[in-house]
Amino acid sequence: MEESVRALFPRYYDERQTRSAVRFVAQADPQLIADGTYFVLESSGDLVGCGGWSRRDRLYTGSGESAADGRLLDPRTEPAKVRAMFVRSDWTRRGLGRRILEECEAAARREGFSRLALLATLPGVPLYRAYGFEPLEELETALVDGVPIACVAMEKLIDVGRDVRDADEENSARTEAPSRSAPGSGGRAPRAVGG
Ligand SMILES: CC(C)(COP(=O)(O)OP(=O)(O)OC[C@H]1O[C@@H](n2cnc3c(N)ncnc32)[C@H](O)[C@@H]1OP(=O)(O)O)[C@@H](O)C(=O)NCCC(=O)NCCS
Repeated sequence: MEESVRALFPRYYDERQTRSAVRFVAQADPQLIADGTYFVLESSGDLVGCGGWSRRDRLYTGSGESAADGRLLDPRTEPAKVRAMFVRSDWTRRGLGRRILEECEAAARREGFSRLALLATLPGVPLYRAYGFEPLEELETALVDGVPIACVAMEKLIDVGRDVRDADEENSARTEAPSRSAPGSGGRAPRAVGG
């Protein structure tokens, strides 16, 4: 996580913002791990990508503690949160971010959610847009140490037909040779950490 932020944030943020983000944003949230909703992708035993989702009311790790943090969301009325997506800089643009989002979307759908929401830091916006998220609002948030970070609040409707298509694709994939070489692909799902 820290390597990803150190390498990729300077394209969008200044040095002070990058330093603060390494400290407060690039941190694993133990709650996601305990919930079993955080995924990693590995290559030869190295972690090269991670990210997850939450059924709880917290948008990002550096948001600090507030009374609402940790409350279980109501899937009938509230969107599940996509959280803490990071790909190591030497592994970007190979579909790892998308792969983790697919896993998050499928898991949230199984729990009855119909929308995904997130607060994107700027390096994440192109991925989320490509995946179908719509920007709702551009805003500036302050990290725990007061450093301001420009972000974009985004949402996406969960594709309810996807499970059926995935199952169809899986069935036809059984009869075809695997064609992708990204880690975690080739039929293996990302590993859920702690669950
Ligand atoms: C955001 C991040 C996770 C993307 O991961 P990734 O594995 O490179 O994303 P993918 O390869 O799955 O990208 C899927 C598609 O998203 C779009 N996309 C992703 N990164 C992009 C970029 N830097 N510029 C333009 N389009 C981009 C493209 O359409 C891409 O498809 P393509 O490569 O076939 O054109 C990665 O850049 C990262 O770790 N950034 C730093 C941490 C961060 O900002 N996380 C977001 C926190 S909210």
